[in-house]
Amino acid sequence: MQAITVRPHVAGSARLEDIAEPPEHDGDVLVRTLEVGVCGTDDEIVGGAYGAPPPGRDWLVLGHESLGEVIDTPVSSGLQPGDVVVGIVRRPDPVPCLACATGEWDMCRNGLYMERGIKQLDGFASERFRTGSDFIAKLPPDLRSVGVLVEPTSVVAKAWEQIERIGARAVWQPRRVLITGAGPIGLLATLLAVQRGLDVHVLDLVTDGPKPRLVREVGATFHSGSTAEACSGADIVLECTGVGQVVFDVMRSTSPAGIICLTGVSTGGRTLGVDLGALNRDMVLENDVVFGSVNANRRHYEAAVQALARADREWLASLITRRVPLARWSEALQRDPTDVKTVIDFTR
Ligand code: BGC
Repeated sequence: MQAITVRPHVAGSARLEDIAEPPEHDGDVLVRTLEVGVCGTDDEIVGGAYGAPPPGRDWLVLGHESLGEVIDTPVSSGLQPGDVVVGIVRRPDPVPCLACATGEWDMCRNGLYMERGIKQLDGFASERFRTGSDFIAKLPPDLRSVGVLVEPTSVVAKAWEQIERIGARAVWQPRRVLITGAGPIGLLATLLAVQRGLDVHVLDLVTDGPKPRLVREVGATFHSGSTAEACSGADIVLECTGVGQVVFDVMRSTSPAGIICLTGVSTGGRTLGVDLGALNRDMVLENDVVFGSVNANRRHYEAAVQALARADREWLASLITRRVPLARWSEALQRDPTDVKTVIDFTR
């Protein structure tokens, strides 16, 4: 079967090649791949900056944002051939740590977790993949056209769950939220914020293209000015750029008892002059919380499916700005300024 493979830490090594059918030890559910989404993590892996191959070899099948159709499955899985599914990315560490032992692999404590298409496990960018029935999310059939958005939505569903758990530390009636970055993660975080009835503001550098329109259409306010201005009065910030200056600016600008959730994986290597003493004082005196959030467990995939099922289908569809047939896969890895979510179509 055809698969997009990459040699992690070798820039430009991604290629489309024939590999063996998925091995049985990957799991008892065999899935035909329909679509695979491309995100910043894939860019980093393809650029040689991130990722790890399975033990014993130097290459990895790419792809962690999947959408597929079940071909074959044991009756005990509760699935049937034809079901529309998404593969769960992370696998618990083998020790396992307390979090992984209880199904909260997204909170792995020892860093020995594995991730499909990212860290030591083949991804989903092959014509067929296998996975265990514990690591799959079933979608209502009518979500098929936008189902590739489930994985990135699971990441923001986790972030929102964590924000709400932190908010519950004291009496809390958040009103205003700022989302920094109007990429797919920022826009999906915006959707989940609007669904919570909040006054939602989104900050991005762009002033044209699809992003300002998508923000307005979902019911939020778009900003392209200064971070401090957009952040003014925000009870919650969901930081989705990973840009050091933006992270610092939002840390300085939230309301008292503000909660800042960091979701962007920065590349590092840039330094900023920061008055940490003043920042520390402000955070202490205002009971502010800054925390990081990554990945998602089964509960978050289920929340993501529910959130997408409640959303306007046309709006969701317009987040997918480009579908590239598998034969032209490399075009999907080239960024266009008007892209929101690019998807590789395995059915064409
Ligand atoms: C994926 C997550 C993953 C993270 C870090 C993200 O792009 O969506 O599932 O945990 O990268 O590897």
